Amino acid sequence: MITFFIATLFPEIFDGVLNSSMLFKAQDKQIVSFKIINIRDFGFGQRKQVDDTPYGGGDGMLLMVEPLYKTILYVKSLTTKKITTILPTPRGKTYLQSDANKLAEMDSDFLILCPRYEGYDERIINFVDKTYSIGNYVLTGGEIPAMVIVDSITRLLPGVLGGETSVINESFQLNDFTTEFPQYTRPEEFNGLVVPQVLLSGNHKKIAEWRNKQNDTSKNEL
Ligand code: ADE
Repeated sequence: MITFFIATLFPEIFDGVLNSSMLFKAQDKQIVSFKIINIRDFGFGQRKQVDDTPYGGGDGMLLMVEPLYKTILYVKSLTTKKITTILPTPRGKTYLQSDANKLAEMDSDFLILCPRYEGYDERIINFVDKTYSIGNYVLTGGEIPAMVIVDSITRLLPGVLGGETSVINESFQLNDFTTEFPQYTRPEEFNGLVVPQVLLSGNHKKIAEWRNKQNDTSKNEL
């Protein structure tokens, strides 16, 4: 069983995502468990303060290093298993399928720290194992990146998806440079749009060749 500890200032954000569909089933099968930690529990004083203004000036507030550090220590006190601590940040390494594959193969629990506000005190970097950006855009917090990371790892764990797709090195496992091939289901014709003939042929070799040849057909131009 792999435990994902998720440290956040907004625990309620995770309710729907973790308790639906594949992530729910993975918990039900006891392959993963999710523990949400409120960073505010480690804040200062009566107001449980977790943020402060940046040295050198600038807009907004930063998450202080100490509440984050205390969160890490607390989570490490909960288990004797190795914990890999992940900090989502737009300045991290771009998170790719190959990262998900590697993380899914580690014998480790995970702690994902979700920053908020305008950022975090940089010194927290000394206490985390990995920093990841989920893409070159800026989100308002680490919660959505945490969901991306949790989802992409969990679906790779043996027994989660069932069947052949659960194995990491399956032939159709995506690597960083391929996209999923297009797929079709009934009906064979919709408003004059027909399913590619090769998929109806029953010729598995030809079907595999066709699938391997498909490129990204997404409509990127605005
Ligand atoms: N926090 C804010 N934006 C982010 C991004 N693109 N990736 C990871 N963490 C983030």
